[in-house]
Amino acid sequence: MTLQERLSTGRGKWTPDFSDLGTGPVSYDDAISQEFFDDEREAIFKKWWLYVGRVERLRRPGTYFTRELPGLASIVVARDLEGNIHAFHNVCAHRGNKVVWQEYPSEETSGSCRAFHCKYHGWEYDLAGKVEHVTNEEQFFDLPRETLAMPAVRCEEVGGFIYINLDNDAEPLRDFLGERVCEIEQYPFHLMTQRYGFSTRVNGNWKMACNTIQEWYHPPYVHQAFIHSDVREAEKLVPPIDSYHYDFFDKHFITSVPGPPPLRPREKGAIGEARREMIWVYKLFRGGLFGPDDVADIGPMPEFLNPGELRSWSNDQFWILPNASLQIWARNFYIIYTYWPESVGSHIYDIDIYFVPPENATQRLAQELVVNSVIEVAMQDVNTVEATYSAVKTGAQKEFHLSDQELMIRSFHHTIDGAVADYRAERDAGTRVSVGTNGHGTNGNGAS
Ligand code: FES
Ligand SMILES: [Fe+2]
Repeated sequence: MTLQERLSTGRGKWTPDFSDLGTGPVSYDDAISQEFFDDEREAIFKKWWLYVGRVERLRRPGTYFTRELPGLASIVVARDLEGNIHAFHNVCAHRGNKVVWQEYPSEETSGSCRAFHCKYHGWEYDLAGKVEHVTNEEQFFDLPRETLAMPAVRCEEVGGFIYINLDNDAEPLRDFLGERVCEIEQYPFHLMTQRYGFSTRVNGNWKMACNTIQEWYHPPYVHQAFIHSDVREAEKLVPPIDSYHYDFFDKHFITSVPGPPPLRPREKGAIGEARREMIWVYKLFRGGLFGPDDVADIGPMPEFLNPGELRSWSNDQFWILPNASLQIWARNFYIIYTYWPESVGSHIYDIDIYFVPPENATQRLAQELVVNSVIEVAMQDVNTVEATYSAVKTGAQKEFHLSDQELMIRSFHHTIDGAVADYRAERDAGTRVSVGTNGHGTNGNGAS
């Protein structure tokens, strides 16, 4: 029996179940248009909750980290001496210098302190971002001391994931995430404090990068090196489309992904002679793309995982829109991917992989090999993104055909495009009203 036969459910197609997604060709205008990019920033990145980091980065009072939101803001997230978490814009109330940075102003930083000091004229800020000391204060005129601060930013947390929102009128984080995403709180993330973090710039639209892990049509081709040297064999080793599970709700969605079980406990001599090939290395170090083969004990698996009850479950991917994907793996580790748009044609891609701390060198090596595989695969994906973006941007092809196993791509663009369309409609209606009220003519059909 082939792998495909074993995992197949015979379920048939998924996309027609989601009638508002349609089955027709789609456009990639939302990934190459400057005008769309500008509106997406207003409609989404300035209004939706954005994941900025884990609570483990703020273990003790006085710890902090910064998060650059390219082109939008630089945010400081800090834990005060009472243990509360605050977020505020990284900008001085005196003459606007960036307050928290080291060596290079544009790079993110983290650390611990009792107060922040502006490097320009020495103003001092507490851990909530309020001005605590003004140098040469007597030189100023009617300084509104009580209100001076690095401007506060809304900051809330669910399951140890810290989010910020640049819109003071936004709904609470829990409402934005919804019940299904908030179930992640049942997972023991706090046990997984061993973090491996990566960040890189990708020359392509951020949504195209998300699309590379929203389908499993590409692995035999993009990731063939990980599967089989013969592409026809590689195709047979990828699970069939109906062995996945999809669950869409409001903005966000989950997919459950099948994968192989861990290797059996090692028997002496079982890996055989040394060979110059990856499969042998995985067997030696007992770790690879699907996680470590010696699985850390984290207690019983929370019920919210594997909602589709896949026969051979490897991970659940929570797509928490706009720009974060949380993967919780059957082998008891998790990965969070974030995509920070910088321009229509570039973004910063962050990958954080978390494990239970290794107890010995063998476990550490297994984790490192998992990390190595994840990053290698991610780089194969983003290399493709750069090729796709550069080609789509030429405009030579305008319509693209998505198969059933690309339905998450449909859903993702549908949600983002819908939010931008709503924003444009509201903005243009506002423009019409104000044009009418001011009596400056009647040709008020909106800014675009
Ligand atoms: S700009 Fe920060 S103290 Fe002057
Ligand atoms: Fe991939």
